[in-house]
Amino acid sequence: MAKHMRVARGRGAVLIIGATGFIGRFIAEASLESGRPTYLLVRSLLSSSSSKANAINSLQHKGAIVLHGMINEKEAMEKMLRENEIEVVISAVGGRDLKDQVGLVQAIKAVGTIKRFLPSEFGHDVDRADPIEPALTAYKEKRKIRRLIEDLGVPHTYICCNSIAAWPYHDKTHDALPPLDQFQIYGDGSVKAYFVTGNDIGKFTIKIVDDVRTLNKRVHFRPTCNFYDIKELACLWETKIGRTLPRITITENDILLVAAENSMPRSIIAALTHDIFFKGCQVNFKIDGGEDVELSSLYPHESFQTLDGSFTDFAAELNIKSVVK
Ligand SMILES: NC(=O)c1ccc[n+]([C@@H]2O[C@H](COP(=O)([O-])OP(=O)(O)OC[C@H]3O[C@@H](n4cnc5c(N)ncnc54)[C@H](OP(=O)(O)O)[C@@H]3O)[C@@H](O)[C@H]2O)c1
Repeated sequence: MAKHMRVARGRGAVLIIGATGFIGRFIAEASLESGRPTYLLVRSLLSSSSSKANAINSLQHKGAIVLHGMINEKEAMEKMLRENEIEVVISAVGGRDLKDQVGLVQAIKAVGTIKRFLPSEFGHDVDRADPIEPALTAYKEKRKIRRLIEDLGVPHTYICCNSIAAWPYHDKTHDALPPLDQFQIYGDGSVKAYFVTGNDIGKFTIKIVDDVRTLNKRVHFRPTCNFYDIKELACLWETKIGRTLPRITITENDILLVAAENSMPRSIIAALTHDIFFKGCQVNFKIDGGEDVELSSLYPHESFQTLDGSFTDFAAELNIKSVVK
């Protein structure tokens, strides 16, 4: 084990799948930060980009232990879970690879000692939300994995963390910076959404895996400090850049047309934006017990990073220093 790892006593080993990916990287960092023995399942890096290899090197330097393999190889996964005495498995595979989790879930069931499995979710509650295509296909895959987990009796938690803290473009990926030319307002701009930083997704994901109150639950991230509609986001961004920008309206039909183009990832992002800002998929249901739990009710004294702070950072990245608050 690398000398840098601070091992927290009594906390079982976690295996993270997808640490070279967008969400998985945050989870891996948080797991290492928590001092938990952290294993990363990595596909061959031979075909990977140098940035992925660098990401893995950096995590190894912080104490992560790299295992090579693919989650769809059931027998190999079973052996790996047993030999490394893994207690928690977190999957953050991307949209195209959700089906691969079938072999992983079967391996977890066969091993029988995994205390918690978190499948690749990290978005909306896929049993409640019903987006248009092409997002619906991915939701159907996530639902199938949920049903398999439940049918096999695998101890689990589903993370419904809502939107990543970024500008919610309908036609660009989540790592694009906020606009400097104009705001695109979705419809009347009044539908709200919750925004959570990648660091907080990682931090709280690792926190809940040992919490008995989250066993076999859907955990919803609804930070009241980061609850905005698109018009409020525009005003917040204007305070950071020190000027106002024109607003244009994106109608529901405009978004439906982008989704119907079926070009990836643009059309998936459009379909999700439609679900969030036209159908209100993050806010059109109440959390009232049963299998649902809201994160802040579990950890009332833990704070979230604010979107206000993220916007300050984005303005700094764009070199807008003079007016940043
Ligand atoms: N809430 C939000 O705003 C938000 C934003 C983004 C994503 N998400 C959700 O978060 C989850 C992860 O998405 P992402 O965008 O982070 O994914 P991503 O960037 O595409 O990364 C996927 C990761 O999974 C690994 N992987 C894929 N198939 C594998 C297999 N068979 N065996 C082992 N590793 C495998 C990939 O490895 P390689 O490096 O070898 O390809 C990569 O590390 C998804 O469920 C997605 O819907 C939510």
